[in-house]
Amino acid sequence: MNGPERKTDNGRAESEAALATSRFIHRKILARLFQGWFFLCVTIGGTSLWLKVSHIQQLVHNLALKESAAFSGASAHNLERLDSAAYQHLSDLAQQLVNQHFLVVELYDRNQQLRLEIVRSGHELAEWSIDRYRHGFPKASEPVHDFHYVQGELLLVILVPLHDIRHTLTGYFEGIYQVDREALDAIKDDLTRSLLLVTLAITFTTLLMYPIVLTLNKGLIKLSGDLLKGNLELMDVLGCAIAERDAATNSHNYRVTYYALRLGEALGLSREQIHDLIAGSFLHDAGKIGIRDPILLKPGKLTPEEFEVMKTHVQLGVDILSKSNWLSGARDVVEFHHERYDGSGYPLGLQGEAIPLNARIFAIADVFDALTTKRPYKEPWSVSDATAMLERDSGSHFDPRLVRFFVTIAPDLYRQMNDLDEQRLEALLKRHISRYFLVTAIRTSDRNA
Ligand code: C2E
Ligand code: SIN
Ligand code: SIN
Ligand code: FE
Repeated sequence: MNGPERKTDNGRAESEAALATSRFIHRKILARLFQGWFFLCVTIGGTSLWLKVSHIQQLVHNLALKESAAFSGASAHNLERLDSAAYQHLSDLAQQLVNQHFLVVELYDRNQQLRLEIVRSGHELAEWSIDRYRHGFPKASEPVHDFHYVQGELLLVILVPLHDIRHTLTGYFEGIYQVDREALDAIKDDLTRSLLLVTLAITFTTLLMYPIVLTLNKGLIKLSGDLLKGNLELMDVLGCAIAERDAATNSHNYRVTYYALRLGEALGLSREQIHDLIAGSFLHDAGKIGIRDPILLKPGKLTPEEFEVMKTHVQLGVDILSKSNWLSGARDVVEFHHERYDGSGYPLGLQGEAIPLNARIFAIADVFDALTTKRPYKEPWSVSDATAMLERDSGSHFDPRLVRFFVTIAPDLYRQMNDLDEQRLEALLKRHISRYFLVTAIRTSDRNA
């Protein structure tokens, strides 16, 4: 009768966990892809911008050089001592350039003395504002240039060394070339277009990558999900093995795990710590498997000698866990769940905060459930008797701060679980814990990557 219902409950728990996991993965991949997209946009966009600008600079440089070529004839004159006819000739040439694209044309002799200067009227200011950045005269015989963006105008200062036919330096031509409006607008359009194109191409590629990356990861996630399921089952099997002998049911394990988990959540523990608390709660008494039946199943009170044997279940449990790296997080609970807050517990007699927090939490859950359920050696107590006992032993057996939290949630949790059979308890717990295990596993593999 419980078969189909159990399937439905567990199925729902598993699909909820699968959904949460898949959302988590989607977010993770999207974040990574966005990082990649941003990085590519900056680097490829930046590089293509730089290439484009260098190319444009070269074009403008060549243009200015071509227009100023008319001045190469100046080399035929002795620029240090121009006669008036030569001066007039060169002035006319310079005036022609200034009427076209140049704002300023200057001629220097080989000693870098200014010999001639023509400025387009109304643009005296342009020369003045650029003068402040003026570069030195070039050492080599190659023309040099310098771009300035002044009041919305793109200006090119070009300096061309002049040589006579024997390649001897005779002077310098300097001009401020104004890139005309249409050319400037075309350049701006061109830059915007190529940047837009690069961004679009990167965005398109990134979007294309998304389903591919997702598919690749899904295989991995499925695999680690299967592994995890196997591990959870293994934990369940180990926990059951002792319950089979002790009380013929897993219910105690499921209930204490749920109490401890809910107390851990109420305290705001981290995911990792709750993960360990769950594993520890499931396996807390695994060592009882090594206690022989006459003691483990004794219907009455244990003698002091028998109780000494019973105490060894703690060390037996630690030994069993030490075989598994994956279960090592459970060790705090298994090793210290019978320690007491005042130091009177076993096996070490640790005191207060020296007892790991998960063990202090679990001790409360364990005793509360032991008291409120039937044992071979005792009848169940009422919830109010059990909480009264926790409060009485608060400070001696239990961490008082934790008891204060627990007594406020215990009656509801007890009512929630009281009527549930083993299968429904298992489903309730599974629904609650799978997200800790799945997400913790993803985070862990993420950290290791
Ligand atoms: P358990 O039955 O799972 O009990 C866990 C813990 O709950 C006990 O740890 C104890 O702290 C608390 N507890 C259980 N029943 C009672 C109770 O009737 N009164 C009070 N005040 N506390 C209770 P503890 O004492 O270290 O015992 C560890 C395990 O030893 C128990 O696990 C049980 O398996 C066994 N055990 C303890 N006392 C007896 C006994 O008188 N007869 C038998 N047959 N087994 C016992
Ligand atoms: C147990 O406490 O170990 C089992 C008792 C139950 O099934 O509730
Ligand atoms: C807490 O988080 O509950 C306090 C930590 C501690 O008691 O060790
Ligand atoms: Fe125990």
